[in-house]
Amino acid sequence: MDKLIITGPCRLSGTVTISKAKNAYLPILAGVLLSDKKIVLNEVPNLRDINTMLTLLGNLGVGITRNGKTITFDPSTLSSHEATYDLVKTMRASIFTLGPILTRMKKAKVSLPGGCAIGTRPIDLHLSNLEKMGAKITLEGGYVYAETDGPLKGANLLLAFPSVGATENLMMAAVFAEGKTVIENAALEPEIDDLANFLNAMGAKVSGIGSTRLEIEGVKTLNEVEYTAIGDRIEAATYIMAALATGSNVKVEGFNPAHLEFVIDLLKEMGAKINIGDNFVEISESSLNSARIDTAPFPGFPTDVQAQMMALVTQVKGNTIITEHIFENRFMHVPELNRLGASIELRGNSAFIDGGHPLKGAPVMCTDLRASAALVIAALASEGKTEIDRVYHLDRGYENLDQKFKKLGANIERIGN
Ligand code: UD1
Repeated sequence: MDKLIITGPCRLSGTVTISKAKNAYLPILAGVLLSDKKIVLNEVPNLRDINTMLTLLGNLGVGITRNGKTITFDPSTLSSHEATYDLVKTMRASIFTLGPILTRMKKAKVSLPGGCAIGTRPIDLHLSNLEKMGAKITLEGGYVYAETDGPLKGANLLLAFPSVGATENLMMAAVFAEGKTVIENAALEPEIDDLANFLNAMGAKVSGIGSTRLEIEGVKTLNEVEYTAIGDRIEAATYIMAALATGSNVKVEGFNPAHLEFVIDLLKEMGAKINIGDNFVEISESSLNSARIDTAPFPGFPTDVQAQMMALVTQVKGNTIITEHIFENRFMHVPELNRLGASIELRGNSAFIDGGHPLKGAPVMCTDLRASAALVIAALASEGKTEIDRVYHLDRGYENLDQKFKKLGANIERIGN
């Protein structure tokens, strides 16, 4: 298992280019299964989760040709309806394949998902709404079995919570459904707009994009498409937090700052000096004040940036309170940050951070994707050597993280065991 060795404190400088969004490409890759025509995806990041999804598509019979980061798909050869446990267990996003497989094959067998251990993460909203569209669903032996006699039927769906994954799965299931599907209380995350734009580029009829009410008019065929996803706002936020935590001047480019509006506005209120461009932000050395932060569905503060924000506020004088409202168990970074000398107390779903104390390098362990990013940020700000174990969590969602930080001047090494 690889480790990262970071010797801090590190001052960063220069420009970092953000990769295309993992959380946009994962549902788009599942969407490939809907079509029987050629699909070309550009600038697909080389990440463990993406590679898992590609293996899954390959196992289902999809033809895949990789040319660097451009991937060409021939989904006409889809031959299996089964997403097996060995792949699905490592990645919750595999559940996105349920709607598309069911649409194409009229039956699907998809293992109940795994992924980051950040809460119970049920899929009841996916299943109950697919049933409303006419799917017959049973759960047995850790698998979801879904069947439909003919095409799924358009339906009026109301999500009890604006789940990102459920919105995406149902949107895809509705592409070929008979008649119109309406998804009310749809999630608003930019990756959902991106999936809708991809589907529409193939000839689907999704409207209401960017609103909480999506309408999908069923179509009979799709066409060939070439598509490039949006930049990764969560990766961008991670580099922004790293720059601020280390008092650095850094340009973060290759994403849409509007996708991080809440985070950027909050950081500015805290005193951060941030210059906003079309597809970049420039961070200048800033002195920050403490804050009160609540995670929320988009456009609120993203749960996927909570851990990185916590690493940052360990370096901000005063008391910051961070309350996690999306996932009940998303604080596994707290004991590890405390090992570096942070003073964080957990009560229920809130973390109380007494910030501004110097951190000192120590051996720490990655526990989930974003928690690991928080450890990198804290290590960059710490005095001395931090050894970060179980880097495979980071490799799920951060492309070339060590190389990107090295290019910014960080003293970071990756060592293999
Ligand atoms: C997606 C993102 C993940 C992000 C999350 C919230 C991808 C691949 N992953 O995950 O990085 O942290 O959005 O922004 O895009 N829930 C239910 N029943 C369901 C579905 C969800 O109760 O059927 C609950 C979950 O347990 C959780 C909350 O809803 O508490 C949010 O989950 P959801 O929005 O579905 O997140 P994901 O799509 O899994």
